[in-house]
Amino acid sequence: MKVLVVGNGGREHAIAKKLLESTRIKQVFCVPGNGGTATTQGCQNLSLNIDDFQGIERFVMVNNIGLVIVGPELPLSLGIADYFQQKRLMIFGPTKAGAQIESSKSWAKELMLQAGIPTPKAAVFTDAEAAKAYVLEQGIPIVIKADGLASGKGVTVATTVKMAHSAINTIFRGEFGTDNIRVVVEEFLTGQEVSILALTDGITVEPLLPAQDHKAIGEGDKGANTGGMGAYAPAPIVTPELMERIQEEILEPTLAALQKRKIDYRGVLYAGLMITPDGEPKVLEFNCRFGDPETQAVLSLLETPLEDLVLACCQQRLGESSIRWKSGASVCVVLASGGYPGSYQKGKVITGIEEAEAQGAEVFHAGTQLKQQQLVSDGGRVLGVTATGETLEQAISKAYAAVDCIQFEGVYCRRDIGRRALGDKN
Ligand code: AMP
Ligand code: GLY
Repeated sequence: MKVLVVGNGGREHAIAKKLLESTRIKQVFCVPGNGGTATTQGCQNLSLNIDDFQGIERFVMVNNIGLVIVGPELPLSLGIADYFQQKRLMIFGPTKAGAQIESSKSWAKELMLQAGIPTPKAAVFTDAEAAKAYVLEQGIPIVIKADGLASGKGVTVATTVKMAHSAINTIFRGEFGTDNIRVVVEEFLTGQEVSILALTDGITVEPLLPAQDHKAIGEGDKGANTGGMGAYAPAPIVTPELMERIQEEILEPTLAALQKRKIDYRGVLYAGLMITPDGEPKVLEFNCRFGDPETQAVLSLLETPLEDLVLACCQQRLGESSIRWKSGASVCVVLASGGYPGSYQKGKVITGIEEAEAQGAEVFHAGTQLKQQQLVSDGGRVLGVTATGETLEQAISKAYAAVDCIQFEGVYCRRDIGRRALGDKN
């Protein structure tokens, strides 16, 4: 079978490489892909835009591609799955209606409240002054969220009233879109965050291994939020008992609430949870897709062929599948361009990837590009160096030994990925 993967991140490179482990997958095409998917054997990039549904469809038809897997949220929120389903083509990812769980925080909040899913208390406003008055009433710290897709930049954890008011002003100035502006003002929670990526065929929902992302740019979770500076799996804070609660109190009721709204959701339901100090799992957000960099860590441990699970979701037979895992742990360390998540330079020559892989790690590309046969940086998050080990400690040592082989001007990474799970304070 031939598969087409939509996206150009580390997540998509990891998906493509995982698919190619199976002898049944003959070729993977990536739209538009990156320097990694360009150089992976069996993989080929297509220079099409991710929102060019017609162009992608034409390629799929002409080349007899059996399955399309969508990485990022944008094409899902624009209705790529609806488009392909109407043409009776196999696509993994929810429809536009289902993608609202990520594309509208107020929609997701309402769904959670109606279904009784544990989530921090919140109020939704269409008016800046009312939102500001609510902030004064509730006090700080408080969390201000733009309603729509904001590439991870729409959330402010405000520690002063001034900060909260300024975040509200920014949203109502139209920074994250000018249509139907809404803001979600949410109770601030403390605790540990975990990412639960679950597969669903619209009937059953099966969690993958729990993972933990490291969103802040700096060690010890200091500094600005990024797309994710590293991840590890499984996250030991999610004990089997806690996973059972997450399944019963969050994943199953969310799927039931989607069904009640007549939404046929087939794809990844990603719950971003806060585990509060008293051990309660609460939903901070849902995403309608695989997480990045969690996917790089989680898929490294997946034993069941990925295409079996994805096809089972598309064909509504996930209930017949079992998900098998390798033993041990996995960690993904992101190498970023100096200056990220602020401004940074591109086009820096990258060396040492072969040496890194000789250490037993796998290097997934994110913001890279092949330019005149040379690999250069092409984004904020450049590479995801991923290693597995019998223990998390072994996986971490292996990953950082590989990290140290890679060079490009200005390269930055956090040195503490995964350490919290070992009991280190950060
Ligand atoms: P979100 O996109 O909603 O997951 O928010 C991005 C990040 O902001 C999360 O990963 C958390 O680190 C933080 N955050 C969001 N909501 C809350 C909350 N209610 N309490 C504390 N931190 C939050
Ligand atoms: N790692 C966070 C995300 O994928 O949204």
